Amino acid sequence: MAESYIQELFAKRIGGNTFGKDTKIYKFEKIKRAKMAAREKNPGKELFDFGVGEPDEMAADMVVEALRIECAKSENRGYADNGIDELKQAVVRYMDKVFGVTGIDTDKEVIHSIGSKPALAMIPEAFIDKGDGVLMTAPGYPIIATHTEWNGGVTIKLPLLKENGFLPDLDAIKEKDKKRAKILYLNYPNNPTGAVATEAFYKKAIKFAKENDLIIVQDAAYAALVYDQKPLSFLSVEGAKDVGIEIHSFSKAYNMTGWRLAFVVGNASIVSAFANVKDNFDSGQFIAIQKAGVYALEHPEITEKIAVKYKRRLEMMVDALNSAGFSAELPKGSFYLYVNAPKRAGKVEFASAEDASGYLITEASISTVPWDDAGAFLRFSATFSAKGEADERRVTEEMGKRLKALDLGF
Ligand SMILES: Cc1ncc(COP(=O)(O)O)c(C=O)c1O
Repeated sequence: MAESYIQELFAKRIGGNTFGKDTKIYKFEKIKRAKMAAREKNPGKELFDFGVGEPDEMAADMVVEALRIECAKSENRGYADNGIDELKQAVVRYMDKVFGVTGIDTDKEVIHSIGSKPALAMIPEAFIDKGDGVLMTAPGYPIIATHTEWNGGVTIKLPLLKENGFLPDLDAIKEKDKKRAKILYLNYPNNPTGAVATEAFYKKAIKFAKENDLIIVQDAAYAALVYDQKPLSFLSVEGAKDVGIEIHSFSKAYNMTGWRLAFVVGNASIVSAFANVKDNFDSGQFIAIQKAGVYALEHPEITEKIAVKYKRRLEMMVDALNSAGFSAELPKGSFYLYVNAPKRAGKVEFASAEDASGYLITEASISTVPWDDAGAFLRFSATFSAKGEADERRVTEEMGKRLKALDLGF
């Protein structure tokens, strides 16, 4: 059949006329295929999936009930546009109660979004023209970088290294990059490293932003999931609102990934530009979902309970991994354990974390996510599927045994 002319119409940003013909297989597709292969090779063997990046449980019963009630009300049926006031007010109270952030203007400094992923995708629309830069932590959640590039901008990678507590080294950024950058993207608690930011780091970042005329976008998707410390908001640090916004999500904090609800809070000019762009992309999240979100924000103890579960699981994972030779430590936040990838298993050498991760799936039916951006690391998520504490112990102990049997070298 003659090639369709449609192939010639694709925009360059998605590959132009080579779109769909790329034979390169990307990391997550490789993991998916390796999992399928492992299941075929060992049909009777339970596959332990430590690769998932989303909660294994449903939203709290009362949040589901709030949605059930609200979705039956006629007044909630229409376009929500840039959001309902009740949610904005609940955000203001939540930021005070959980993070001690006060003085947020309900009208000008808060807006909902249909998850934080679209918010991150839209921010470059408001700021990035051809040649403009975004300073982006690596490894990191790639959405803001992708859209920066789609707008003709450039991504400048800031490696997250263990020796710096997985915080970017702002002093190492080149003059040229400081000049062209308009956005510094941060994400704490961090995916995938599990690191949290300190107040001192945020202070430094705010000073850096002011000196170099750039904005800070702090992705707080895991904000309230912290262990042995109080959650810290970027906005609680003096001067933060002069330069930045923080994006909070209901996905991980409230087990609401599929519901698609988040909020952007902070600098009024940035919120206003985001609102303008957003209004041209979507018509807001279903009001009933926003109202269920209000219930959730009024009950931060839901998140605290979820964090207790993850901490328990992470502790079990640390023990299991260390029994097999890893150097795992309890992360300060998020639900991820980020550990140095093994260099070998018996006589088999690994050239990368991706190699090691592939081996663990095929040989031990253990799925992880590899990162090779700044050193070779594996990410184990505490959201693996297990029913209750005894089952969590069974899964993690079995993982430890399987890993030990591989004779890993580091
Ligand atoms: C760092 C980070 N930001 C944002 C998101 C997206 O979250 P949401 O469900 O709010 O779009 C994720 C999801 O994995 C994430 O890890």
